Amino acid sequence: MTAPRKLFIKTYGCQMNVYDSERMAESLGGAGYTLSDHVEGADMVLLNTCHIREKAAEKLYSDLGRIKKIKADHPNMKVAVAGCVAQAEGGEIMRRAPVVDLVVGPQSYHRLPALEAEIRTGKRALDTEFPPEDKFDHLPKRSTLGRATAFLTVQEGCDKFCAFCVVPYTRGAEVSRAPQRILAEATALVEKGVREITLLGQNVNGYHGSDGSKDWGLAQLIRALCDMKGLERVRYTTSHPNDMEDDLIRAHGDCEKLMPYLHLPVQSGSDPILKAMNRKHTAQDYLRLIERIRAARPDLLLSSDFIVGFPGETDADFAATLALVETVGFASAYSFKYSARPGTPAAERPNVPKDVSDERLQTLQQLISRQQKAAQDSMVGRELTVLFEKPGREPGQMVGKSEYLHAVHVPAPNVRAGDLRRVRIVKSMQNSLTGALIDDKTG
Ligand code: SAH
Ligand code: SF4
Ligand code: F3S
Repeated sequence: MTAPRKLFIKTYGCQMNVYDSERMAESLGGAGYTLSDHVEGADMVLLNTCHIREKAAEKLYSDLGRIKKIKADHPNMKVAVAGCVAQAEGGEIMRRAPVVDLVVGPQSYHRLPALEAEIRTGKRALDTEFPPEDKFDHLPKRSTLGRATAFLTVQEGCDKFCAFCVVPYTRGAEVSRAPQRILAEATALVEKGVREITLLGQNVNGYHGSDGSKDWGLAQLIRALCDMKGLERVRYTTSHPNDMEDDLIRAHGDCEKLMPYLHLPVQSGSDPILKAMNRKHTAQDYLRLIERIRAARPDLLLSSDFIVGFPGETDADFAATLALVETVGFASAYSFKYSARPGTPAAERPNVPKDVSDERLQTLQQLISRQQKAAQDSMVGRELTVLFEKPGREPGQMVGKSEYLHAVHVPAPNVRAGDLRRVRIVKSMQNSLTGALIDDKTG
């Protein structure tokens, strides 16, 4: 038996990458690797990259510069690049960065142990194929957990082709995993102590998996998970407004374990811009949809993504975005300055001047943070259920999440990670709530 080898993983980008990093760690675990928090002393450094905006992709090259210096003193260290930059510009990474030994695309992670063995012989390797086999069938069973919450990827890729977005190119066409496989993975997670599962997909509500005879939509999958003993909470992200099917909206009303928080990106509140983005819905469509979901689940909180400075965006278009935000009232939202991505249709169009985009971003972010604070403050005095995840900074304190995804700090020395408890919210801080346990004398 050789000594365990150390694996350092850095994850950029979305939750799907977080999930993939866990699966890659499990896969390399079979090849004798254990996770380490440091690049120094690692036998393998794996960068799981994001290509969504220019800055995200550039981060890879600056990190590789630093790693190159460390590798100079550790010649046996292997460097691997995975994720969406690997998929989009694998060949260029190999040319530009000789420090990289392996480039592996998101569909080839099950081949990691074989690729690792190959680079150990001194070769360099590039695998950015979309292989015919399903990587999920060839990855080892879930093992590295010990947490109350987990991600579970159910769908990958995107067929929507929003004019700004690289995902359809980096992650390929929409593919859904079979429901039996997902339920088996969920069962394994629950057996390891997981109480909350967040179903992931680039377009998760477009999920349509076949069990061999019938097609399952996301709502059916959620209902099956809600029937699973030991699993207390279900969430899903990220969704496209055009795929919010009636059954899924109904599930928000009648599945108690489906949490009342939904991330539903709209990108813009202006119809001409939505059209130019190829979103295939109007601002009014979105507002009507929100009304229907809120009718099913009145206490639902919403979040969204916005892009400002999309090519052609005028002051009036931006004002329409602000108006939509005012109308909906979001509990949280991400907003980004448009970043032209090579190969996407919008990349060819003239950009909005940088100072204009900067100012719009600031204005939108100020409005969103006011709404975010208001939603959080409205929790004070309420009784919520908290799923505890880990100890807090203060002695005896535990931190968890409410149904509405707010972080809640509670003095609770006898509570353990994975416990669900009723909590009265006493205070709203900058980015979290403080609460006290209800019906617990010992704390
Ligand atoms: N599939 C999801 C998430 C896509 S990426 C969805 O459709 O909502 C996450 C967010 O990044 C997007 O919602 C969008 O707001 C932002 N984004 C994508 N491409 C971008 C670009 N070229 N410039 C700026 N933001 C972008
Ligand atoms: Fe990108 Fe649009 Fe697909 Fe989302 S729906 S991943 S923004 S192309
Ligand atoms: Fe980034 Fe790829 Fe996710 S581009 S946002 S890591 S799908």
